[in-house]
Amino acid sequence: MNQKNRSLVTLEDLDKEKILHLLDQAAKFESNPNRKILDGKIVATLFFEPSTRTRLSFETAVNRLGGRVIGFSDAATTSSTKGETLKDTIMMVSNYADLIIMRHYLEGAARYASEVSPVPIINAGDGANQHPSQTMLDLYSMKKTQGRLEDLNIYLVGDLKYGRTVHSMLQAMRYFNPTFHFIAPSELQMPEEWKDYCRHYGIKFHESTEFNEDIIADADILYMTRVQKERFSDLLEYERVKNTYILHRDMLCKAKPTMKILHPLPRVNEISQDVDESPMAYYFQQAKNGLFVREALICNSLDIQI
Ligand code: CP
Repeated sequence: MNQKNRSLVTLEDLDKEKILHLLDQAAKFESNPNRKILDGKIVATLFFEPSTRTRLSFETAVNRLGGRVIGFSDAATTSSTKGETLKDTIMMVSNYADLIIMRHYLEGAARYASEVSPVPIINAGDGANQHPSQTMLDLYSMKKTQGRLEDLNIYLVGDLKYGRTVHSMLQAMRYFNPTFHFIAPSELQMPEEWKDYCRHYGIKFHESTEFNEDIIADADILYMTRVQKERFSDLLEYERVKNTYILHRDMLCKAKPTMKILHPLPRVNEISQDVDESPMAYYFQQAKNGLFVREALICNSLDIQI
């Protein structure tokens, strides 16, 4: 957490103790999500890119805690279309709100907003860079299903180049001795800078382009991701790679019984519908966990104790 203004831009803002504390807070919210502790607080949700889960779960969190929400889900209806800068937009909204939750298509936009904003910023996704609140709910889901965060075998599958959630996950898991398996087509491999990050922190990782029942047999967590069509400048390349990996139910035949399948969602076709009925499918519950985790993150940014 950036203590200067309590923003959450990246997982680098949270140390291990803080991550574990926030997960504990989230568990309290899961036991009772309705607490009127944001009375008089206004939270702005500024979404310059589409969202279903992140925006609605943040807004639900504010509503369940008794605060109020302002904002937009379509930047085309705002004065940014008239040329207003991001800085001016942030300065204006900070006149009205106590906390700004922002998704933006530019990498680094949340960092910049946190530097100019007098109120805290929570990064709800900046381009292909980071999605820290998603990672916090991913950690919550892993801890809840595996009983621990330490020593997990985590398979990241799909678009590891543009998928911002997998980048944030590397940062968060550096405290917990994971072994990562990066499974991606050659065009969508984990970027070198993130592999350097793993080397720097001693995070173990293996890379593969193969995806089958034998490869995933020792997974604790199978983290599927969508190929991020909106990040491709060449749509022909997207068409070439979009169906590379599809998880079918019969591919789970050798998986550990305790293994869980996560996905930040939305999915397109990378998890076939027949997987939904498997006890290993956890992605809808994972999205539900986002509410409790975001309640904790909002209270933390507003310095409200529970
Ligand atoms: N996981 C996630 O960020 O989903 P949305 O794009 O629907 O917010």
